[in-house]
Amino acid sequence: MPGYEVIGSEELAEIQDLFSHGGILFRHGFDALRNNRYKVKEFEQAFARTMGVNNALAVSSGTAALRVALAALGIGPGDEVITQSFTFVATVEAIIEARAVPICADIDTTLNMDPEDLERRITPRTKAVIVVHMLGTPARLPEIAAICREHNLFLIEDTAWGCGGNLQGKPLGTWGDIGTFSFDFAKTMTTGEGGMLVFRDEAVYQRAAAWHDHGHENNPAVPRWEDTRASSGFNYRMMELQGAVGLAQLKKLPGVVAAQRANRDRLWDAIVGLSGVEPRTVLEGAYETADALVFMVPDSQTALRCRKELLELGLATKILPEAYTWHFAGTWHHMPELVAAHGGNLQAAFSQSHAILCRAVSLPVGVNMADDVPQRARRAIEKAMQS
Ligand SMILES: Cc1ncc(COP(=O)(O)O)c(C=O)c1O
Repeated sequence: MPGYEVIGSEELAEIQDLFSHGGILFRHGFDALRNNRYKVKEFEQAFARTMGVNNALAVSSGTAALRVALAALGIGPGDEVITQSFTFVATVEAIIEARAVPICADIDTTLNMDPEDLERRITPRTKAVIVVHMLGTPARLPEIAAICREHNLFLIEDTAWGCGGNLQGKPLGTWGDIGTFSFDFAKTMTTGEGGMLVFRDEAVYQRAAAWHDHGHENNPAVPRWEDTRASSGFNYRMMELQGAVGLAQLKKLPGVVAAQRANRDRLWDAIVGLSGVEPRTVLEGAYETADALVFMVPDSQTALRCRKELLELGLATKILPEAYTWHFAGTWHHMPELVAAHGGNLQAAFSQSHAILCRAVSLPVGVNMADDVPQRARRAIEKAMQS
């Protein structure tokens, strides 16, 4: 969550550097005026190094990153793309924007994609899978990647919540064909609005880079106004101010994740003994970003009572249970494409997910946490359990 908690003089210094060397805010061109300042390009290169990949592409949001990923993989009308029923609306919106068919799979107790349900929902029209690491906990990547290989499907990792996390030492976002990231203001690192893609394959990167920039191939042999092109595209470019902030935030990412993990542990240590509190399933070898501490309680009434008691003690929950409607496909009757694919009773279409989500509670975790928060959280949850 809290890239914004650590915004400070380093971000300002990057922006000042930009303004004191020409103040060029567009990522391309103006070479004579910019004194060699290419903040977005530098940010992409630093991000790629951090992730251990050859290519990263900065874009205007995490939603844009998903849309660009689908375009770069050639996903279009008639193709089915399977994602998970617990995600943010953006994941499904990107599929709809690509004029593909959104299909959601149930989640399991990891609160991420259930590989068995994924397999059940594959059809001859399925082209890609978008797995999501919700609230910073890795999905079952080894099994899901194996299913994708077996069925010849592209794998996209929506790593909006997982930036800085890894599974078995391999960074989240680098397990699939493309990993997408969000740098909106609520994420582990932020550029205000912004996103990034990382790629396994050079040719896919080249397609994405062109598509996010109206089809511009940025051919070095010609000026931009005579640029070569092979397809149309759109404008999802990141601008230099965001690149500057991103460069400073990226350096802080390991510290942010480490601090969140320590605070998550303090919270968990305070509530682990309470009867009725069960942990979320976390895979062995998972290095979570710990944006939140998710746990299960016996039923939905108790989950709602936990929120009420936490609010009364000046604390909060994050997404579960209160923002379930923005994050559970079982409530997205406003998306006709999803209703067409799954029928009019979406909650019934994802009944396994509903049964898990309605008894889940999520506590926000940040870099800064007052010393008394774990004990206050314990008191609130204890009270909710007893009433
Ligand atoms: C899982 C998931 N995917 C994608 C996004 C979209 O990111 P952005 O807000 O940068 O468009 C979000 C935003 O919260 C998200 O939670």
